[in-house]
Amino acid sequence: MIIVIDGPAGTGKSTVARHLAQKLGFIFFDTGAMYRSVAWMVIQAGVDPKNREAVAQLLSEFTYEIKTETHGEKRYFSCGTDVTEAIRVPMISEAASQVAMYPEVRQSLVRIQREFGKKLSAVFEGRDMGTVVFPDADLKIFLTATPYERAVRRLRELQNKFPDMADSLRFEQILEEIQERDKNDCTRPESPLKKAVDAHCIDTSKLSAAEVIEKILKLVPKKKYSPMKFSYWSVYWMTRSFFKLCFRLKVYGLENFRPGCGIIAANHASNFDPPVLSVSCPEEVHFLAKDSLFHIPLLGRLIRCLNSHPVARAASDASTFRDLLKILQGGEKVILFPEGKRTPDGNLQPLERGLPFIMQKSQCPIFPAFIDGTFSIWPIQKKLPKLFGKITVIFGSPIEWSDFATLNKREAEKLILERTKKALEDLEKKLKNMRPR
Ligand code: DC
Repeated sequence: MIIVIDGPAGTGKSTVARHLAQKLGFIFFDTGAMYRSVAWMVIQAGVDPKNREAVAQLLSEFTYEIKTETHGEKRYFSCGTDVTEAIRVPMISEAASQVAMYPEVRQSLVRIQREFGKKLSAVFEGRDMGTVVFPDADLKIFLTATPYERAVRRLRELQNKFPDMADSLRFEQILEEIQERDKNDCTRPESPLKKAVDAHCIDTSKLSAAEVIEKILKLVPKKKYSPMKFSYWSVYWMTRSFFKLCFRLKVYGLENFRPGCGIIAANHASNFDPPVLSVSCPEEVHFLAKDSLFHIPLLGRLIRCLNSHPVARAASDASTFRDLLKILQGGEKVILFPEGKRTPDGNLQPLERGLPFIMQKSQCPIFPAFIDGTFSIWPIQKKLPKLFGKITVIFGSPIEWSDFATLNKREAEKLILERTKKALEDLEKKLKNMRPR
């Protein structure tokens, strides 16, 4: 699903888009940062941003990377240099507005933006997202606010970001710059800033970011999951009822779930985990299970109906990966236990490299999930489960492939493992805090 948020500077687009993406579990794409990064490169090269020909010539040297740190913060790289802070200074704002007028610049950046939007559910923020880049977006928002209000916000933002410069910032100058940029953005012949006819317009002058987000959330089209096959559906409801009745199964965080391909990465504590996790999802999912599980009476039959695929040899088997990839490339979800085997003591074990490998090959998002309670009900040391207990499942925000797309294989593998481990630990903590004391 693609949501686009357009509008002039200072309407709160970035804050709103970032938080909206977080709430929906989508990725957030700030296209203004791309134009700013081009402007930064132009200035670094000593080229006058007003010299269209020289700017166009520099474009072939432009490389752009977004790296996401373990805690989810994004860092922007222009031509290999971290420019996250440097691109926010007023001089770059002005130069960005200038270079954004050139068709050569726009065409090359739009190509990159569309490429990112192909596979992902994302909130794109910019000026021409709804009119040019994604004319078929699922939801288009256009934010406005009075120039005065926008200048007040910009001043506050700059004061917070650059406390050293606070004394030199003048409100009148910022207002003037905003009006100048509006003029540039709205009057340029190539992709001028304008509301798409089918965009919802929200005036943010008197609204807080939270109020704007609330308004947008009401407009987001409902997720559509494909209907389950009859055999899956019947076993799904039977198994779900069993876990609900005997083990008071509770599921949290489903707002993080969305249709389409995905790797559901969960902690592994018990043979109950695959069926518990399957019936906690709102759509059909697939999982791999050891051959031996299919020989356990009843459980074997149930898991077969729940799209389980027997693995004859070790899970690192090449044919297993091929099967998984086929399912993911078909736009479906697969449950994976990145620890590789059940925990012997109830604690999270080190994650294996299969998960990053599959993410890199499939480019699908990871949906982290934490299962609590199955260890005390049916740990690895026990032949049979207890018939009582409490099981809780919680899903976290998806980890998007785009966060790693520009990294080399090694870096991506390391970061995917770190992010997944942290997501699982955070979910475990969240569940602990939710328990009545
Ligand atoms: O949103 P921002 O202030 O970071 O954007 C910086 C400049 O880039 C601004 O002058 C408008 C331009 N821009 C654009 O022309 N098209 C976009 N999609 C995003 C930004």
